[in-house]
Amino acid sequence: MTVPNGASPLAGRRVLLIVGGGIAAVKAPDLIRRLRERRAAVRCVLTAAGHEFTTPLALSSLSEDRVFTDLFDLTDESEMGHIQLSRQADIVLVAPATANLMGRMAAGMAPDLAATLLLATDKPVMLAPAMNVRMWLHPATQRNLTILKQDGVLVVGPNDGAMACGEFGPGRMAEPLEIVAALEAHFGPRPLQGLRALVTSGPTHEPIDPVRYIANRSSGKQGHAIAAALARAGAETVLVSGPTSQPDPAGVEVRRIETARQMLDACEAALPADIAVCAAAVADWRVATEAGEKLKKEKGGGPPSLAFAENPDILATLSGRREARPGLVIGFAAETEKVIEHAVAKRERKGCDWILANDVSPATGTFGGDNNSVTLISDAAPDTWPPLSKQQVADRLVQRIAEHLGRA
Ligand code: CTP
Repeated sequence: MTVPNGASPLAGRRVLLIVGGGIAAVKAPDLIRRLRERRAAVRCVLTAAGHEFTTPLALSSLSEDRVFTDLFDLTDESEMGHIQLSRQADIVLVAPATANLMGRMAAGMAPDLAATLLLATDKPVMLAPAMNVRMWLHPATQRNLTILKQDGVLVVGPNDGAMACGEFGPGRMAEPLEIVAALEAHFGPRPLQGLRALVTSGPTHEPIDPVRYIANRSSGKQGHAIAAALARAGAETVLVSGPTSQPDPAGVEVRRIETARQMLDACEAALPADIAVCAAAVADWRVATEAGEKLKKEKGGGPPSLAFAENPDILATLSGRREARPGLVIGFAAETEKVIEHAVAKRERKGCDWILANDVSPATGTFGGDNNSVTLISDAAPDTWPPLSKQQVADRLVQRIAEHLGRA
């Protein structure tokens, strides 16, 4: 057997391995051995059901670390709280991930240590599901899988094959070396390592009075996907986000704001940055004077008239900075007609380096939707990408950034 050396992308990584209750738990010691060979640090959590298939002693001997089992263990909690345990890893790996654990995760339930860690962690989570074929194919499990993937959970396997229960089909846990390969791919080349990135995302809310505000339909999906992709590529990423329902992307520092002026302040506070991507749908105007009290329908007074003031343009401000201008400033041009023509003019006007022009006319479903059709406007000829998911747009943009910076 060739023993892999420290060149594995897993070298020096900390893996929190949650071993669930299934027959595949017998493969956990081999998995730990493979990870340790690649110089990853492994810390194990064994569920109550996992105890039925493997032992804390086996896991502890191979990981050369203690094994955590109980949410309410006084010693464990005083020495290493469960929140800390969930954060002190580079990735949380669940192998085997049972239907029960997946269901708890999808529902956000935390009845034991494993589920609590999975809810409390701010790190990427990878599942290696293992269960009976009928359980795997059951609509409830498939529904949970869809939810978990939408939440950004990574999944390796399961494989097709003969099962311990005598049935045949998908549900066998991926082999330890396949799980290792998935982890290596996850931690793989990090072309933007050592760089700092700043991303704006979501809408802004501009108050009219203490209960009303002006907003727009931006979901934040594209900006959040870009921040996640930059972080995956190794950039230290700050995401300045208006109000959205998007989950915080793994490995990204999120700063929440409401108004355009707060967004600008948060962006400036996050400098210096090598890369800035302004994907937020910033309100161009705010109400000049926010009413201190709720505006009332006064008898016979008619509707109030609002006076507007212009908001700062964050993209133009970052692009125009003399000091600490990010090396590569990228904006979006949301247009409903003459998309490329308007985007070219917008790039010139705002002084940014690249613009991703996108057609947001209602028929495209881009605003709030999952897909995006973009054209990259730079010094080179306009480059129209095929229709892609917002996640794919993010990955392709990061790839282009890496190429531009000579790091691909
Ligand atoms: N943008 C910004 N600050 C603003 C307005 C826009 O940072 N106050 C950024 C957006 O994040 C996007 C780009 O500027 O990257 C273009 O946004 P868009 O809404 O298309 O352009 P506007 O400047 O609002 O121009 P118009 O409404 O005239 O199309």
